[in-house]
Amino acid sequence: MTIHIGAQQGDIAETVLMPGDPYRAKWAAENFLQNAQLVNEVRGMLGYTGSWNGHRVTIQGSGMGMPSLSIYANELIRDFGAKTLIRIGSCGGMQPQVKLRDVILAMTATTLSSPSHSIFKEVNFAPAADWSLLQAAVQAAQSREIGIHVGCIYSSDTFYDERPDLNEQMVRHGILGVEMEAAELYTLAARYQCRALAVLTVSDHLGTGEALPSDQRERSFGDMVEIALEAAFA
Ligand code: HPA
Repeated sequence: MTIHIGAQQGDIAETVLMPGDPYRAKWAAENFLQNAQLVNEVRGMLGYTGSWNGHRVTIQGSGMGMPSLSIYANELIRDFGAKTLIRIGSCGGMQPQVKLRDVILAMTATTLSSPSHSIFKEVNFAPAADWSLLQAAVQAAQSREIGIHVGCIYSSDTFYDERPDLNEQMVRHGILGVEMEAAELYTLAARYQCRALAVLTVSDHLGTGEALPSDQRERSFGDMVEIALEAAFA
């Protein structure tokens, strides 16, 4: 047990999928894993371990934002031995070619600050996905009828952003979408020699103001779970 994860040693698999929303963790465990067992409910941040095609998998909520994800990812890696961590979540589209329901596989995650920022001092560390996971996820995504984009995203600290100028610079520099967790996940994976990837569904678009209705969010979420699982065990 750790401060934020009530699981026993051995309860957590080496492969962990991390949705932001704990109820998505429950939904994914119930719909995609066999014999899923609840392994964490501290603070309602649900985590389940079960199996997929014979492989052990944990699905643990991360909460929203890098400080929250950082707590869970640190404990999963350092205390429970997680080796492959895949964020599955939503993002806001930033480029015109990025449409609602498309999936973005995040090659890099630019950020203004993350919980790891202070250790780099003047250096701008470049958080990047694990290449083997990224490559496998591209293959898994290409076999589906969904639009996919592979490229760079922005991990913001704010959902209700008061700096439109920053978003403009992100768009100008080809950033595909914005979310709030991947940069810290990639940085921790680099620090502890783990593999990490963010698989993201475009749930809204900053340019057009469109947003996915909630019934379509569930279907898109299922695509992401399958892409993440196929990539993890490719
Ligand atoms: N901003 C930040 N995070 C997000 C967004 C957004 O527009 N959409 C989904 N996650």
